[in-house]
Amino acid sequence: MKKFTHSEFDHNAGDFRKDPSAVYKLLHAAGVGQSEHYGGFWVVPTYETVQSVAHDTDTYSPADGTMLPGVLDRPLLPMESDPPLHGEYRRMLVKQFSPKAIREWVPAIRAAAQDLLKDVLTEEPYDFSLGYAKMLPTAIICQMLGVEFKTEFQEWVEDVVYRRISDRAATDRAIEKIHNLFRGILPERRENPGDDLVSLVLQAEIDGKPLDEETVIDFCFFLLIAGLDNTNFTIRALLQQLAIDHELRQRLVDDPNLIDAAVEEALRYFSPVIALGRTARADASLGGCPAHQGDKVLMLFGCANRDPAEFENPDEFDIDRFPNRHVAFGVGPHRCLGSNLARAEIAVAIEEVLKVLPDFELAGEVDIRWDDLGPLLIKPRKS
Ligand code: HEM
Repeated sequence: MKKFTHSEFDHNAGDFRKDPSAVYKLLHAAGVGQSEHYGGFWVVPTYETVQSVAHDTDTYSPADGTMLPGVLDRPLLPMESDPPLHGEYRRMLVKQFSPKAIREWVPAIRAAAQDLLKDVLTEEPYDFSLGYAKMLPTAIICQMLGVEFKTEFQEWVEDVVYRRISDRAATDRAIEKIHNLFRGILPERRENPGDDLVSLVLQAEIDGKPLDEETVIDFCFFLLIAGLDNTNFTIRALLQQLAIDHELRQRLVDDPNLIDAAVEEALRYFSPVIALGRTARADASLGGCPAHQGDKVLMLFGCANRDPAEFENPDEFDIDRFPNRHVAFGVGPHRCLGSNLARAEIAVAIEEVLKVLPDFELAGEVDIRWDDLGPLLIKPRKS
């Protein structure tokens, strides 16, 4: 087995993004250590150490950026903020993403899924990635923001999330387009507020004052991009799993109540958000290592979700796993605000496919990579 050296570890490296699971195993054994990439950062790989960093927002702050390397020179809000402001920001939005509020969105999610499927199923093989997994979360967040749905939004998000290292110019162009989109909408929305998220952020007050325009744009930017690459990745990955594992797919067809457990296991097993960062605000002992004030710290959610200390047979896709306390949505004060929405979108996406196409298989080799959403070609199974 290749010896693992923390100093060489790069969570953005192509080989790692192609199949992180082998490196995860080495990291569980190696524990916390320091990488030399991106000016140096602490690698936090185990379930226990990820939990301790994520909960300790006094020592480990997201306010100086959570992406390594960074994406833009302004904050992703509400994620990249500290208490007490973070609490205020979260309170602004929490009701709109509550289980009750998201249940009310389910008919719209279902209608969008059915609409997209109609187009996808016109010609074999069906590409469940481009026309379906990628488009459903985009269509829904547009409705929630009160923004006209454009398929190119998904491309912008991919430019921001996947190409920030390989094609920085494309990332910068996409960021500018998203900022301009919202800058263009705000005057009209200020005049005629609705019940959408943009109006909500515009009308919000902190200490009796509205947010300044650039802060509103920071919120809109993150609300648009926060839930797209990860939700569509999970829909695509779970559909791929069902195209390979015919027994599992049949169980879900026979008992759709099991779909929620399959969604949870897909979130754990595939962990779409591999890693997010913090900056140490004070010297601290981090998994036995000496982190210093100002050090970058990277929590590996994906690695924690395969940690054998928490999950039995972690590399098995097992929807009967109980408990399944995965950290795909993070943990602690910054735990994903959109988790109810993401879960509903993934579950409905799977339900609707199984209704119209209960038996299917892959129509060709598929690559699953954590830095690209290629096609997922599917055909009906002739058994
Ligand atoms: C499978 C889909 C998703 C995954 C895996 C995911 C993952 C995460 C993770 C790991 C965090 C924690 C960040 C941290 O600790 O620094 C987070 C935060 C957040 N997510 Fe998600 N997310 C998903 C979908 C969504 C959706 C659909 C939305 C809707 C807009 C959303 C909105 C947010 C927001 C606003 C935060 C910041 C919360 C805060 O800092 O208080 N996410 N997400």
